[in-house]
Amino acid sequence: MTRLLNHFQSSVGSKMVMALTGLGLVTYVVFHMLGNLQVFEGSHALNRYAAFLRDMPILLWTARLGLLSLAVLHIGLAIRLGLRNHRARPVAYAVHEYRQASFASRTMAVSGLVLVLFILFHLLHLTAGVIDPTSADRLDAEGHRDVYGKVVHAFQNPFIVALYLVGQLGIGLHLSHAVTSSFQTLGLEYAAFSRFFKAAGPAVALVVVLGNVAIILGIFLGIVRG
Ligand code: HEM
Repeated sequence: MTRLLNHFQSSVGSKMVMALTGLGLVTYVVFHMLGNLQVFEGSHALNRYAAFLRDMPILLWTARLGLLSLAVLHIGLAIRLGLRNHRARPVAYAVHEYRQASFASRTMAVSGLVLVLFILFHLLHLTAGVIDPTSADRLDAEGHRDVYGKVVHAFQNPFIVALYLVGQLGIGLHLSHAVTSSFQTLGLEYAAFSRFFKAAGPAVALVVVLGNVAIILGIFLGIVRG
């Protein structure tokens, strides 16, 4: 037990926990995007899907608490590792050596911060209905919460569209480095699959961003209507 705790406290252990919690969060983001794509099938499909998720309170709250724990662990460890690295090298390099590191890897802290701010805004906006109370939960013709109406109303507003697109930039940059880096940390980068793991981060990032941007712009451009 003490050895396990010591390992967890070490930088390597912390990075492993960050990799595992990060992969858990990415899995949620991919499934969330796939579920939301049902907006293209119309109100019936999206509202029924949202009702299906909400109609199982035990499952819903287990998933919510699980997600929250993953996010708190992931962000907490990122801050701790960042502070530890800063303490180990309080004076920055006089000349930065950027030849090896990609733009995404150098901007992980900034993209992570954009992501956290986006999620807080998103929860206040679409889950709590605080940002735009006019789009708070109404019922559709079948008596389900009109999540479709709420989403369509949201992305008809250019200001909201702009904020969500900035959020997608943060997600894209963060995921494109994070997924590949998690596989490396977990020691999964076998020579035979090294190309696959290198491509996995940018590929996952591209799929998530394209899916979300399709929803945002599909509504804004009137392809999906209320
Ligand atoms: C265009 C992109 C997105 C759309 C249209 C969208 C849509 C929604 C909607 C409608 C809800 C509320 C569901 C309900 O009231 O039943 C929701 C909740 C949520 N979204 Fe998103 N979302 C998007 C992107 C994201 C992203 C990128 C993340 C994470 C990085 C995310 C994380 C969450 C979380 C954590 C919740 C709360 C889930 C819950 O209520 O338990 N969303 N989203």
